[in-house]
Amino acid sequence: MKVALITGIRGQDGAYLSKFLLEKGYKVVGADRRSGDSSNWRLKELGIEKEIEILYMDLLEFDNIFRVIQKIQPDEVYNLAAQSFVATSFEQPILTAEVDALGVNRLLEALRLLKPDAKFYQASTSEMFGKVQTIPQNEKTPFYPRSPYGVSKVFGHWITVNYRESYNMFACSGILFNHESPLRGVEFVTRKITYNLAQIKYGLRDKIILGNLEAKRDWGYAKEYVEGMWMMLQHNEPDDYVLATGETHSIKEFVEKACSFVGYEIEWQGEKEHLKGIDRKSGKVIIETSKEFYRPAEVDILIGDASKAKKVLGWEPKTSFEKLVEIMVDADLRRVAQELKK
Ligand code: NAP
Ligand code: GDD
Repeated sequence: MKVALITGIRGQDGAYLSKFLLEKGYKVVGADRRSGDSSNWRLKELGIEKEIEILYMDLLEFDNIFRVIQKIQPDEVYNLAAQSFVATSFEQPILTAEVDALGVNRLLEALRLLKPDAKFYQASTSEMFGKVQTIPQNEKTPFYPRSPYGVSKVFGHWITVNYRESYNMFACSGILFNHESPLRGVEFVTRKITYNLAQIKYGLRDKIILGNLEAKRDWGYAKEYVEGMWMMLQHNEPDDYVLATGETHSIKEFVEKACSFVGYEIEWQGEKEHLKGIDRKSGKVIIETSKEFYRPAEVDILIGDASKAKKVLGWEPKTSFEKLVEIMVDADLRRVAQELKK
């Protein structure tokens, strides 16, 4: 039985990857930083909470990482742990760098010393492209990060490449574009929209206040992206891959589509932080915008070219933008309905 260690076990991708690896017959060990919230709601929703061994491990503490690696001797390590919210990285740039940059180095160093033959996956990101230098972006596109999060992840990416080249370790960096699901945290814009819309539908809220609606993202379905992570580690050579859909949509489009699934037809009035989304039938303001949710520097557009992953790994996304929005809206309508019954 292969042993996989997943950091960030309680996050969106940690949950989907755990389920995927359990189905493949792996023993899954999850590294949890013990933040106080022990609800494990994502693992519970997927029905796998009891099948995973959870160990405490914080990427901030080297000795802790060292002991965990020594104890479980993993065959594969998926480093999904991060301070992953871009907006917070402007408020906590140093903590973000400690976790998202140096944390990767701590983990790689522990592996080099204790289990250099383990295969390693680093969760890199399209945020590294930031102010994009080409459209679309692929593995060769130069990085131009626009946030402390993006800058830290660039370090994480290069230190992974460096350990591969210096010590011949099987270390891969997956440059994943935005991927969403019903398990997405509510602070991210897609889930903020779908969860709050469901609340509006059930009369628990009046409107949603958002930031920059003009930004565009390449959004895929998280469940499919974790399979791509695993495929990278099964290939005979370690390498770096972009995973993306090749389509981009604005936040405005996401709002319109999500609203259409709950029966609202949005008409826009005003501009930028004075923009309002009004339901055509009822005249009700559903969306407002506020400077509060704008970032000091924005990534205006992301659109990925995943042709290398398709050619070399046989990976490609299957779920359309429209279907993804529908899946998320449906899940949140169900959740809010259940919350109301309690
Ligand atoms: P997520 O839901 O925010 O999960 C991140 C996890 O990291 C959380 O479980 C968190 O623990 C854990 N964590 C934070 N600080 C830690 C520390 N110091 N030590 C150990 N664990 C720590 O993120 P996700 O969406 O699943 O993304 C997974 C990874 O992919 C992240 O590295 C993210 O940056 C990267 N990524 C995500 C996307 C995307 O669109 N989702 C795209 C590209 C790259 P708590 O549960 O205690 O908070
Ligand atoms: N979160 C949030 N909240 N974002 C908003 C809002 C709002 O109210 N209003 C507009 N936005 C815009 C942001 O300014 C950004 O341009 C876009 O919506 C997406 O924001 P997020 O959903 O927070 O995601 P992200 O693209 O910044 O980062 C996510 O994707 C990266 C991959 O490109 C995260 O998952 C990162 O961890 C990941 O690396």
